[in-house]
Amino acid sequence: MKHQLITLPYETDALEPVISKLTVELHYGKHHKGYVDTLNTLIEGNEYESMTLGEIVKKAEGKLFNQAGQVLNHNLYWLQFGKNAGGEPQGKLAEAISKQWGNFEEFKKAFNTASTSLFGAGWVWLAADEEGKLSIESEPNAGNPYRKGLNPLLGFDVWEHAYYLTYYNRRADHVKDLWTIIRWDVVGDRYENPKQY
Ligand SMILES: [Fe+2]
Repeated sequence: MKHQLITLPYETDALEPVISKLTVELHYGKHHKGYVDTLNTLIEGNEYESMTLGEIVKKAEGKLFNQAGQVLNHNLYWLQFGKNAGGEPQGKLAEAISKQWGNFEEFKKAFNTASTSLFGAGWVWLAADEEGKLSIESEPNAGNPYRKGLNPLLGFDVWEHAYYLTYYNRRADHVKDLWTIIRWDVVGDRYENPKQY
């Protein structure tokens, strides 16, 4: 099947000033689109052509894994944001966070530390196992916890292309601000209704 670039559920300036219009235009319109296009080229006429995106992420290696992983990662990334978002998770996800880290502030602190200490390019994920137990997963490059059977709930892209135009080298400041655009209803739904990708 041919993979499609997702449609953003908001305008390109909706995430200002945390993710600038120009960053969305480049990060979504060039980088993300580029991963989708290259993925489609790489699966043409081989066994991966009939697989879902998630199946490719679980099975592929090397260049194909990198492209498929980045498509899934960015799909999850853009859809977790929104205008006038932020705040705190509710319901079952909030309970699970408190169980694991004591409270939301401690969880954020741990997530920020993981995001700033990841060396080079990669992703930091909040993920759940089959029992709903949460963990923070640091993944280099195109990594996604979906590959090891976990449910990816929330992902911070710490590649420089995600923040450099606005924050330059200040990754910690960008990560701190990302919390203000998180749609916890979306993240909570991923937790309560695990999806196959
Ligand atoms: Fe990215």
